[in-house]
Amino acid sequence: MFLNRHIRSALFLACAAASVAAQELLLEPTELWNYQLTPQADLGPVEIQKGNGVFVDPTGRMAVVTTVGATVYAFNAYSGAELWQYQAPPDGTGIARCRSAVTFAPTQEYMAFTVVDNENSVSPTSRVIALSMDGAPLWVSDSLDGIAQGDPLISSDGSYVFLTHNEFDQDAGVSTAHFTILEGNSTGSVFFTDTSADNIAFGPPGIFHNPVEGNYDPIVPGAPVSEGENNRNDFLMWSQTPRPSDTAIADGFIYGFQFPRTFAGNATDIGFFPLGEIESDFQAITPPVITNEGLSAYWGVSRSSYRGWNTRRFSRARSVSAGFSRNANFAGQAVFAAPALSNSGPDPIIFGGSASNEFIRMNIEFQSTVVPTQALIMSKAVVDGEERAVYYVEMNGNVHQANVETLGDIWNYTMNFAVEGEMALTPNNDVLIVADRRGVIQALAVAEILGTEAPSAFPSDMPSMAPSGDDTPAPTGADVPTDVSGPSPTVSPVSVPGVPTASPPSGAASHGVLVVAAMASVACVFF
Ligand SMILES: *[C@@H]1O[C@H](CO)[C@@H](O)[C@H](O)[C@H]1NC(C)=O
Ligand SMILES: *[C@@H]1O[C@H](CO)[C@@H](O)[C@H](O)[C@H]1NC(C)=O
Ligand SMILES: *[C@@H]1O[C@H](CO)[C@@H](O)[C@H](O)[C@H]1NC(C)=O
Repeated sequence: MFLNRHIRSALFLACAAASVAAQELLLEPTELWNYQLTPQADLGPVEIQKGNGVFVDPTGRMAVVTTVGATVYAFNAYSGAELWQYQAPPDGTGIARCRSAVTFAPTQEYMAFTVVDNENSVSPTSRVIALSMDGAPLWVSDSLDGIAQGDPLISSDGSYVFLTHNEFDQDAGVSTAHFTILEGNSTGSVFFTDTSADNIAFGPPGIFHNPVEGNYDPIVPGAPVSEGENNRNDFLMWSQTPRPSDTAIADGFIYGFQFPRTFAGNATDIGFFPLGEIESDFQAITPPVITNEGLSAYWGVSRSSYRGWNTRRFSRARSVSAGFSRNANFAGQAVFAAPALSNSGPDPIIFGGSASNEFIRMNIEFQSTVVPTQALIMSKAVVDGEERAVYYVEMNGNVHQANVETLGDIWNYTMNFAVEGEMALTPNNDVLIVADRRGVIQALAVAEILGTEAPSAFPSDMPSMAPSGDDTPAPTGADVPTDVSGPSPTVSPVSVPGVPTASPPSGAASHGVLVVAAMASVACVFF
C-alpha cells in the first residue's frame, strides 16, 4: 500500500515516543479514513443537512455525526471504526427529523441533540434527547411546542439543558417564541419555560459557561445593581429570528438569561429578559459566540453583516459593525453560520462567511480581509488550536486550509459534493472531519498524528474493511440543494461516488463501508 511521506512521518512519530512535542501541519492533507452512511430500513435518511454535521467529543477520540433522519453515529476519530449508532424513535406515528448538532455536557457525562417531529405539519413539536457517551439513551424530553432552534445547550455542571423553540400559526400569522430549560441530569422534564407575547420568533441561543460576571446592565433600567454583577452562572444570549411569514428583516430585540446569583434549584424566580430597552438593527439565524471570560461577543447577522461587543455590556449598542456583499436572492439574508474565533482571549481573530460568496477575516475592530469563494459558506470555520491555519468549506464541497493572516489557500481538498453541515477538528489539531450532504464522511490528517497509547486492536464491532480507492458505487446524479437562499454553487458535483438519497439499495445489509487509507499496514494503531 502506498504511504506518502506525511503518513510515514506521522506513523514514525506515532510509534516513536509519546514525548514528541509539536505536531507539524502537513503540507497537504492525507485521506485518513472515510465512511459512507448507507440507508437502512430501520434508520432515517442519511443526508447531512444544515444544522447536522460532525462533532468531536472533548477527549478527541470520538466523532459523532447527526443526520437529518435523526440518526446519531459515532466513530473512532482516528480509525473510522463505527462505535455505535442511535436512532431517535418517532413520536407516536410521526416523522422525526434532526437539524441540530450533538452538544457535549462540559462534565463529559452525556450529550444531547434535538429532533423536530412532523416538521411539515401545521403543528410541529420538538424533543431533546440525551445519550450517554456510549450512545445509550438517557432520556427523551416531553414534546415541546414548535420547532427547536439551533443546538441544545448544556449547563456547566450538566444539570440543565437550554433551548429556544418557535410555534407558528399559519392561519393567524402569529409566531410564539419559547425559551425552555430541561432537567439535564435526570429525566429531561421541563424545569422552566416561558413565552414571549410579542408575535416574534427566537433565534438559537449562545452560551458562556461561568463568565466572570453577567455582562449586562440592570434588567430594570435605573436599578443600582445589575443582576449580572458577581454572577458567575452560565449566561445565554439570543436574538429575534425571521418568522416564516417575514419577507423582510425588521429590527429586533436581543435577549439574555442567567440564573440569579443566589439560585439554588428553585425555578420560581427566574426568567429571560430583553438586553437593552431598544431594538437592535438586526436579527440572526445563528447564535452569538460569547468569549473573553463572557465579556465580548461576535455575531453573524442579517443583511450579510456582523456585530461585535468588545468588552462592552451586551445590553448596550454593539461596539463594532461590518457589512459584506448581500445575498443575490435575498438582501436581508443573514450570515449562515456562527463565526469561529482564533482564541478565547480579549483579542481573537474572527472568521466566517458572509451571506454571499465570501470568506472573511476580521480583527476585533472589524478591519477585514475578504476572499471571494465559488459557493456560499454554510458551515462554521475551524481554527487550528495553535492559530497556524483556518479551515473553511464552501457549499460546493471545497475544503480550504487558509493562511490566518491573508486567507490565501495553503491547500484545498474537494469533497465533490455539497457540504452544508458542520466539520470538526480533533483537540490535537491533527484530524479534520468533513461530511457531505449525501452522508459521506471524510477524515483528513492535517498534521502529524501523535500516538499517545500503546498499540491495540480495533474494536471488535468494527465494520468490514474495503480497499481504498475510487471503486465505491456510481453516482446517482448531482444533487445540489435548491432550498437555500443564495446563489447556487457554481461548481456542480460531478462524477463522484454517491448513494441514492431516497431508498436503500436492495439487500443492503451492512451499516456502511469503511475505507481506511493506509491504516491496514499500520503496525502502531491510534487507540
Ligand atoms: C447534576 O450532575 C452534576 C454532575 O454529576 C452535579 O454536579 C449536579 O449537582 C447535578 N445537578 C442536580 C440538579 O442534581
Ligand atoms: C421556591 O420559591 C418560592 C417563592 O420564592 C417559594 O414559595 C417556594 O417554596 C420555593 N420552592 C422551593 C422548593 O424551595
Ligand atoms: C486550490 O489550491 C491550488 C493550489 O494547490 C490553487 O491554485 C487554487 O487556486 C486553489 N483553489 C481555490 C478555489 O482556492
